[in-house]
Amino acid sequence: MTAAPKAVFIKTYGCQMNAYDSERMGDVLAGIGFRRTEDAAAADLIVLNTCHIREKAAEKVYSELGKLKKLKRRNSELVIAVAGCVAQAEGEEIVRRAPAVDLVFGPQTYHRLPSYLDELKRSGRAVVETEFPAAEKFLKLDGDGAARRPENVTAFVTVQEGCDKFCTFCVVPYTRGAEFSRPVERILAEARRLAARGVREITLLGQNVNAYRGEGRGGGRWSLADLLAELAGIGGIERLRYTTSHPRDMDRHLIAAHRDNPKLMPYLHLPVQAGSDRVLKAMNRRHRAADYFDLIGEIRAARPDIAVSGDFIVGFPGESEEDFELTLEMVRQVRFASAFSFAYSPRPGTPAAEMPGQVPAQEKNVRLLRLQQLLAEQRQAFNVACIGRQFEVLLDKPGRHPGQFVGRSPYLQAVYLEGKGYFRGDLVSVVIEKVGANSLSAHIVDRE
Ligand code: SAH
Ligand code: SF4
Ligand code: F3S
Repeated sequence: MTAAPKAVFIKTYGCQMNAYDSERMGDVLAGIGFRRTEDAAAADLIVLNTCHIREKAAEKVYSELGKLKKLKRRNSELVIAVAGCVAQAEGEEIVRRAPAVDLVFGPQTYHRLPSYLDELKRSGRAVVETEFPAAEKFLKLDGDGAARRPENVTAFVTVQEGCDKFCTFCVVPYTRGAEFSRPVERILAEARRLAARGVREITLLGQNVNAYRGEGRGGGRWSLADLLAELAGIGGIERLRYTTSHPRDMDRHLIAAHRDNPKLMPYLHLPVQAGSDRVLKAMNRRHRAADYFDLIGEIRAARPDIAVSGDFIVGFPGESEEDFELTLEMVRQVRFASAFSFAYSPRPGTPAAEMPGQVPAQEKNVRLLRLQQLLAEQRQAFNVACIGRQFEVLLDKPGRHPGQFVGRSPYLQAVYLEGKGYFRGDLVSVVIEKVGANSLSAHIVDRE
C-alpha cells in the first residue's frame, strides 16, 4: 500500500446516461481516495463504461481491452473494470474473452464499486455483478456529489432510467432494466447544487425521459412537465432540455410545457425510427406514421419555432425499398433540424435478430447513405434559415483565439462569437451571420 492517491481512468462509450454515470462513478471513487486521470498508462484503475446498442459499439470494447492487456503486463497491480451495458449483457463472457478484466458490473450497481474493489483484493478473483437494484443506485449515488466536476455551465441530470417499451431491435430494456423514476426532491436538490456551482443549463436524461413518473412531495406522482415547471423556478438555471423521448409518452401536458415554460428550449429530440407502418409495427413502436405527423403538428402549434430532431434505423428485417421510401417521405414532410441514423444491427437476444428478411449489409449501407444525404440537406437548410435571426447564446467554452467564445444556441448549434469582456455562463443576444460545416458564427447585439 502506498500513501500516494490512486488514479482512475474512465473511458465512456454510448449515450449521455453513460456520461452521467461515469461522473457518478468518479464521485464514488473520489470518496475512497481516487483522483481522475486522462492517461490510461498512469492509472491504477481503468473503467470502461460500455455501450451495447449496436454491434460496432460492443466490439470497440474488446479491441480496447486488447490494448489494455499490454498495460497490465507492465503493471500487475492495475485493475481493469468493465461497466455499463456490455457488462450487463455479457457478464462472465467478458472475463472469458478478455481474462485481463478484473471487475464486471452493470449500470445499476456503481455505488457498490468500493466493495467490489475490496472483494477483488480479498479473493484475487474476478468479480462479476449483473443485478438490477435501480432504486438503490439512485439513493446511494446522489449523496452530495462532492467531487462532481463543476467546470461546465451545462450539466446532465438523470431523472429516469430503464425502459418498458421493448422495441424489437433494442437491447436497452435488457441492459438497463425496467423503468424507474428518481424522486422529485432528489432531482431538485441536485439541480440546486448545480446552479450554486455555476451551471446555467440542465438536460434531464432518461432512456424514456418523458415516461417520467417520479414520487413528488406528499407521495403523489409528478410528470416530466411538472418537474420542468419546478426546475424553472430555481434561481440561476436559465435553460432546460430533456432527452430521449418516446412518441407514445408525449402527452398534452408536456406539449403545453413547450408553450408555457419559458426556460424550456425550443428543441425536441423525438425518435421515430421509420416511416412505414408495417416496419413500425414489426419494430413494436406502438405508433403509426400518422400518429407521429399529428404529434409534430400539435407540438409546432404549441411552439412554432421548435426544432425537431430524430433517430432512424434503416434496413430493419423485412424493410422493402417501398418501406424505405416512406421513411424518406416522412423526413421530407417533417423537416428535421438534425438527426441520427443507423443501419440496423442485429443484437443477440432481441426478437428482431431472429426475424426473417434480414437486409444485406450492402443494401443497408446504400439506404443509410441516401437517408443521411437528405438529413444533411435538411440540417443545412435549418442552419441557413438561422442567418439574420436573433437569439440567445449561452457562452460555454473559450474559442480558438483570445476573446472568442463558443456558445450554444437554443437549438444546440455551436456558435462562435467575439465576446471580449463577457464570461462563461453569460447569456447573450446575438445575430447569426454565417453558417459553417459544423457551427454558426454570430455577433453580440445586446448585453443580458
Ligand atoms: N430511447 C430512445 C433511444 C435509445 S437507443 C428511443 O426510444 O428512441 C438510441 C438509438 O439507437 C435508437 O433511437 C435507435 O435509432 C438506435 N438503435 C437502437 N437499437 C439499434 C439497433 N439494433 N440497430 C441500429 N440502431 C439501433
Ligand atoms: Fe429501446 Fe425502444 Fe426503449 Fe427506446 S423505447 S430504449 S428504442 S426499447
Ligand atoms: Fe448504449 Fe446502454 Fe446507452 S446500450 S446507448 S450505453 S443505455
